Amino acid sequence: MAQYQITFMPENRAIEIEAGTSLLKAASKAEIYIKSGCGGAGTCGACKVTVVSGEVETTGTGNLNPDQIAHGVRLACQSFVQGDLTVEVPPESRLQEHQVLMGDVKKGILQESTNDILDKYGHKPLANKIRVQLPEPTLTDNASDWARLSVELKRNLPYEKNIEIPLSVLRDLPEILRQANWDVSLTLTDLDDKYTITRIEPGNEQPPYGLAIDIGTTTVVVYLVNLKTGAIEDKQGTYNKQAKFGDDVISRIVYAVETPDSMQEIHQAVIDTINELTDKLLARQNLIQADLTAAVVAANTTMTQLFLGINPRYLRLEPYIPTVSLTPSVPARELGLHILPEALVHSYPSVASYVGGDIVSGALITDMANKEEVTLFIDIGTNGEIVLGNQDWLVSCACSAGPCFEGGGINFGMRAMSGAIERVEIDPETLDVNLTVVGRILPVGICGSGLVDCLAKMRKAGIIDRAGNFQLERSSYSARLRQTPDDKEFVLAWAHQAGGDKDIVITENDVKNLIRAKGAIYAGIRSLLQMVAMDIDLIDRIDIAGGFGNYLNVPDSVQIGLLPDLPAEKYEFIGNSSVKGACLALLSQKAWREAADLARKITYVELSIGTTFMDEFVSALFLPHTDLSLFPTVE
Ligand code: FES
Repeated sequence: MAQYQITFMPENRAIEIEAGTSLLKAASKAEIYIKSGCGGAGTCGACKVTVVSGEVETTGTGNLNPDQIAHGVRLACQSFVQGDLTVEVPPESRLQEHQVLMGDVKKGILQESTNDILDKYGHKPLANKIRVQLPEPTLTDNASDWARLSVELKRNLPYEKNIEIPLSVLRDLPEILRQANWDVSLTLTDLDDKYTITRIEPGNEQPPYGLAIDIGTTTVVVYLVNLKTGAIEDKQGTYNKQAKFGDDVISRIVYAVETPDSMQEIHQAVIDTINELTDKLLARQNLIQADLTAAVVAANTTMTQLFLGINPRYLRLEPYIPTVSLTPSVPARELGLHILPEALVHSYPSVASYVGGDIVSGALITDMANKEEVTLFIDIGTNGEIVLGNQDWLVSCACSAGPCFEGGGINFGMRAMSGAIERVEIDPETLDVNLTVVGRILPVGICGSGLVDCLAKMRKAGIIDRAGNFQLERSSYSARLRQTPDDKEFVLAWAHQAGGDKDIVITENDVKNLIRAKGAIYAGIRSLLQMVAMDIDLIDRIDIAGGFGNYLNVPDSVQIGLLPDLPAEKYEFIGNSSVKGACLALLSQKAWREAADLARKITYVELSIGTTFMDEFVSALFLPHTDLSLFPTVE
């Protein structure tokens, strides 16, 4: 097939690409990541680029207007290379540096609350290293190398279990024993009823390391953990390379099942993401792949299946059945991870299709299953995943909040990256606006926490009523509140104060979308409470996890009815609980075993059955709620 040169601007990065390739794919090949909210279906309009020179074949123009089309603007997913091209990718179409939630750990053992939990479970990692000195063979002591080694190991290991050695390690055995003068270090996995030797090397005192991996739909975070000391030596995070196949799990599933090759492609994208992060950690810490002796992955169910290369098709088809809940531990070589090939890779078990290993991992970190007090654990993203309970019972659900809190479906919505408005203040008299912007640069859009703030402040200033309707009579106070041919809108930043060429606005339609999103989360909480016949004020503690959750303002979240109206001291932001749980499991076999018990113990409630959720949802479509007695502190 004909090859053409495509040059991406402003980087001036040129690559050779086959005729017929979409600009979206070509950009990704050039390592320029373009937003693709709908996964390339041509409906979200997020992937706008400008064709500066050359010809493309365009199969759809989505919501582009004639003026944009006349100026060369195209949807990258709907435009296909037909010759040499120069393409400009504007800032608003790019996946930019993201506030990857790396967790609040510094170099050292899991910090603060999680430190206690490691003490509780005990430091006994999933992989270990042991050094042994073997007696040299003689004509009269002529046992095989393996027999000699296993006798010595049995003498040195704490438990009487079978010891296995894979063929790949056995092949290294004779040479290394002799080269090392019979003084060797062995890396072992210590699980269940057996030890498995995963590496043999000349005797040394270097500790074994492991990787704790959080695979989010948007971002991937990897911690490098010293398994001997329990110290987190380093960490690295980035976008999930699967983002080019769509923003949410549904678009990823749709893509994965599209063609026989797409499953492998999307699986490989996450493996590549992890490997890139791992390579950086190894280079920075002066380690080699073989030093990484175990890995624990925490991810939602779709991400887990895609990571393992398991077809996710049935996760989105009623009755929403995952292929496996207790996922098998597999040698890294089967996945192509850049760690010791025989090292075991463990994936957190899931509860259901939409309550995955990341939630089990988070619930383990909260220790809610061992406490008398009732904990509400919420992870807010595109899905709101909620677990409620204590040592006696645990119930969970997932409610589809939609992409608003991650910036989707909102005119100027964006993720929490440079240029995102994250805090909004509105003067109730003048309607003047004061903004806080990520990266302290000119604003280009507004992220989830900014949207929550904005909604609360617009309500307080009387710009919207309790149903989210714009109160245009207030426009006499400020030109910011205005009617356009399409909608009513409030200007957060004038074009001359913004990083783009347009006023940054929030429209009435945006507000309605946000109310639906917050309503879904609150309805999920209320549905679980109803299921266990419990009043909201009997909740003792609320732990909020997730990238969006970490930046939430509790009073504003209560004002809009996203979170329950409970005293601020009951709230705790626990950051990236998913990766913390992965660390904990890596360092403690007991914690890893308990994760499996926890997944079994959490009862999943399917909200689409019955009318409870829908009734609650409809009641929650007001600010803060139709039942104001649920929000006594909200004026
Ligand atoms: Fe191109 Fe959505 S319109 S990715």
